[in-house]
Amino acid sequence: MKNLHEQLANCQFPAEQAFSIPPECYTSEDLFQEEFEKIFRRNWIGLGRADRFAVEGDYETMDLGGKPIIVLRDHDGVLRIFANTCRHRSARLLNDSGNCKLIRCPFHGWTYKLDGTLSGAPHMNKVSNFTRSDHELVSYHAEERLGFIFVCLDHSVPNLDDYLGDFAKIHAPWPIESLVTTRRRSLKVDCNWKAFLDVFNEYYHLPFVHPDSLDEIYNFPNPANEVKGAFATQFGNIEGSGGLLQDSKEQPLPRMKNIEDRVVSGVQYTWVFPNMSFASGMDLLWIYEAYPISVNSCQVFQSICVPPETAGLQDFDKKISSYYQRFDNGIEEDIPALVNQQRGLASSDACQGRFQPLLEANVASFAKWYADQLLSQS
Ligand code: FES
Ligand SMILES: [Fe+2]
Repeated sequence: MKNLHEQLANCQFPAEQAFSIPPECYTSEDLFQEEFEKIFRRNWIGLGRADRFAVEGDYETMDLGGKPIIVLRDHDGVLRIFANTCRHRSARLLNDSGNCKLIRCPFHGWTYKLDGTLSGAPHMNKVSNFTRSDHELVSYHAEERLGFIFVCLDHSVPNLDDYLGDFAKIHAPWPIESLVTTRRRSLKVDCNWKAFLDVFNEYYHLPFVHPDSLDEIYNFPNPANEVKGAFATQFGNIEGSGGLLQDSKEQPLPRMKNIEDRVVSGVQYTWVFPNMSFASGMDLLWIYEAYPISVNSCQVFQSICVPPETAGLQDFDKKISSYYQRFDNGIEEDIPALVNQQRGLASSDACQGRFQPLLEANVASFAKWYADQLLSQS
């Protein structure tokens, strides 16, 4: 068998010639750690929608690329990313999510403002050479684009607009920035994080995994868009909303007010590398973020977003329930397929396959980007 370097090089071709990501990348502990280093700590990472940090002091804690971090909205409305570790003797500062006026360390009470500056340190005022400004929280870069959060854990950060290339231009037909989140749910899936994003982005499995549900909605997609930037995207024509199953299409939500006509009859599936993917429909957006937990499990967040005027409709709860049902059904059908794939990937006989270029276009684009990351820094 080819060595890993040669196998990854086989991913760096257009979909017609490329091979899939080596199975070892879905099962190896060493590569799992290498991904933290080369994928999650060096690139911009999408953390889903920014509107869940609506007011100052709203925060969430998470582990990203093996680093515990705090995502927080400060007093000036700026989104901040801090290392979740105290500048005194490194205790973890916050847990879970919530709202805070200050960040107070539970160990010895050092207190930080929402901009990360140290505002209080009990009994430290007479300590020689102790200067509060030397002990601000370690911070990283966070920015917002189209209502999405992007963070970078590399201090020599690449420019986000260069990273995203023509992402905003390609998504201009949908009023994505102004959408509001009406549901965010979390689930743990027993597969590698890449496998979860792969399956959301391909049409090939639909007749086999979703024969009586999603397969009835979708036709063959258009060829993938040519893009500049760390993402892949593909439009698929469908009748009516892609967020509803065939038998519940008579109760759709209204189409977005400012959506361009040319994209009304279909859904645009976008994968922002490495870990965030979303589908833009004529009435709503559905988003998945996948974060590695272990080599064979990941934490997935599903978010559903609609225009504010749609969320304000009197019969919104009734109408959106059919959509939520469709998304939940889709996931429930995908999960056994993913668990089954993960078992197959773990076989010592697993080897690289080939892509169906139209139906797995985004998956092939990600495989190329992934191989570029691992190889360019080795
Ligand atoms: S470790 Fe935080 S105050 Fe001591
Ligand atoms: Fe699926």
